[in-house]
Amino acid sequence: MTLILFTSLLCLVLILIYIYFKRRYTLINNNLPGDKPQIFFGNLLNSGFLTRKKSFHEILHDYQRRYGDKFTFWFGLQPYIVFCLPEHIQTILSDRHTFEQSSSFIPNFDLVCPNGIVVLAGAKWKRHVRVMLPVFKRAKMIQHLDTITECADHFIDQCLLDNHIHTDLVHRCQTFTMNVIGLIAFDYNLESNINSPIKIAFQDFVSYVTIVILMSWLPQWISKIYLKFNWKYQKIHRLIRELTEKIVEQEQNNSQRSKNLIASLVSSLNEQANDEQISSGLTRIEMLDEILTSMLAGYETTSTALAWFIFYMSKYPHVQQRIKQELHEHNLLMTNHVQYLPRLTSEKLDSLIYCECVTKEVLRLAPTATATTRIALRDTIVDNVPIHRGQTVIIGLNNVNTDARYWHDGHPNKFIPERFLGKDKDHHPFAMLPFGGGHRACIGQDLAWLELKLVIVRLMQRGITFEDTIENGGGYQEQLTCFPKNIAVRVHIDKI
Ligand code: HEM
Repeated sequence: MTLILFTSLLCLVLILIYIYFKRRYTLINNNLPGDKPQIFFGNLLNSGFLTRKKSFHEILHDYQRRYGDKFTFWFGLQPYIVFCLPEHIQTILSDRHTFEQSSSFIPNFDLVCPNGIVVLAGAKWKRHVRVMLPVFKRAKMIQHLDTITECADHFIDQCLLDNHIHTDLVHRCQTFTMNVIGLIAFDYNLESNINSPIKIAFQDFVSYVTIVILMSWLPQWISKIYLKFNWKYQKIHRLIRELTEKIVEQEQNNSQRSKNLIASLVSSLNEQANDEQISSGLTRIEMLDEILTSMLAGYETTSTALAWFIFYMSKYPHVQQRIKQELHEHNLLMTNHVQYLPRLTSEKLDSLIYCECVTKEVLRLAPTATATTRIALRDTIVDNVPIHRGQTVIIGLNNVNTDARYWHDGHPNKFIPERFLGKDKDHHPFAMLPFGGGHRACIGQDLAWLELKLVIVRLMQRGITFEDTIENGGGYQEQLTCFPKNIAVRVHIDKI
C-alpha cells in the first residue's frame, strides 16, 4: 500500500515537473526565430555548445546565418534574445537607463568575486567605477611601458627559440600577460620562481573560475556547493587573499608611493564606504575583490589576442614585413645588439600608424570576447521586438566585427590591416566592439591596447618572424575566451 502511494506520488511529481518545463519552453512571447529548445538543455546540446563541437562564437555566427540578425537562444532553462546588427546594438548599449550589465556576462563570477565590478550594478557599481576607472586610464598605464617591455623581452628570450616549431604559444602568451598584470598590480614578479606558490595558486584559481563559468547552465547552488566543499579551491583562494592583504599592508606603511594598482587603490580605502552619495571609496574586502577581478580580466583576454596575432602573422607574412618596414623608417628596428634597442615610449608607439592598424585588425578579427549581455531594467522595444523587464539580451560582439555589410575592404574574415587606412577607415562605430560599449564598456581597454601594441612592436623590433607550418591548423578552443586551438608556428630570428 505504502509502495503504491509512494510510486503514485513520484509519478505525480514527475508529471508536474514535465508540465512546468513544457510550459516554460513554450511561453516565449517574442516570435523570434531560433532552434527548438530541448527540455532542461535548451539549445546547449543541439547547438554543439555542451559537446564542445562548436565554440559560442561559431554558434552565434551559425545562428545569424540561419535566422538573421535577431533570434532566440536558450541557455539551458533561460531564453535569451540575441542581437547582431550594429544599429540595434547601438540602441541597447547607449541606453543606460533601460539596459544594465547582466550577471550572465560572466556567469557565476559572483561566487568567486562577489564585490568585483563586473558583477555589480546600480549605486554600488557607480561607487566602484569611480575608483577603478581612473586607475586604468591611459595616462596611468603609460607609466608601466618599461615594465611591459621587460616582460615582452623576457617572453622573447625565454619562449622563442630560433628555427623551432612552437606549439605551446597560447600558454606562453598567458604567462606573459600574467607577469605583466602581476607587476602592474602588485610589483610582484610571478616568474621570479618557476614554482612560485602564488603563480600556481593564480593559475589554479583561473581553472576553477573557468569550471564554474562552464557550469553556469546548471542551477547556481550546484556551483556554490562545488566551491564550498572543494578544499583545494578554498586553500588557493585563502592564499591569494593573504598575499594581497600582506601587500596592501606593506603599501599602507610605505612612505614612498609606488605606482602599482594596489597603491592606487589603497588611497581609496574607506571602511565606512557605502552606496550613499556622501560615502565614497572601497572597503578592504571590496578592494581585494577588485584586485582579483582585474587580474582575472587582464590575464586571459590580452594573452588570447596576442596568441591570435602570432597565428595571423604566420598566415600573412607580408604584414610582418610591412611592420618591420615601418619600424625601419622610424629607426626602431634592431640594428646591432638587443641592449641598444631604442626605448619604446608612448610617443614612439603613437607614431607607428601601420602597427596601430595591425593591433586594430587583431582586435577586430580575434574572437577574444565573443559576446556581452544586458538586462532590461524596464519594458521596452528594440526594432519591434518587445523586451520585458528582467529579460537578458546577448550582443554578438564578434558578429559585428566581421559583418560583410559593414566591412568593405576585401573579405571581412581576411586579415587586412590596411583597411583602417582605406575604405573601412570610417567604419560604423558599433561595427567594431572588441571591448563592448556604453557605460559598461571594458575599463581595462587602455591597458590592453598598450600592452598588445607594445608586444607586437617589440616582437618585430627584435627581428622575430613567425612562419606557417602544416600543423598550424587554427580552429577555436573556448575557456573564458576563445583562443586558437591548433597553433604550430616556426620562429625565425633575423640575423643582424
Ligand atoms: C584584449 C583584451 C581585452 C578584451 C578583448 C576585453 C573585453 C571586454 C569586454 C567585451 C567587456 C564587456 C564590455 C561590455 O559589456 O560592454 C569587458 C569588461 C571588463 N573588462 Fe575587459 N577586455 C580586455 C582586457 C581587459 C584588461 C587588461 C582589464 C583589466 C586589467 C579588463 C577589465 C575589465 C573589467 C573590470 C570589465 C567590467 C567592466 C564593468 O562591468 O563595468 N579587461 N572587457
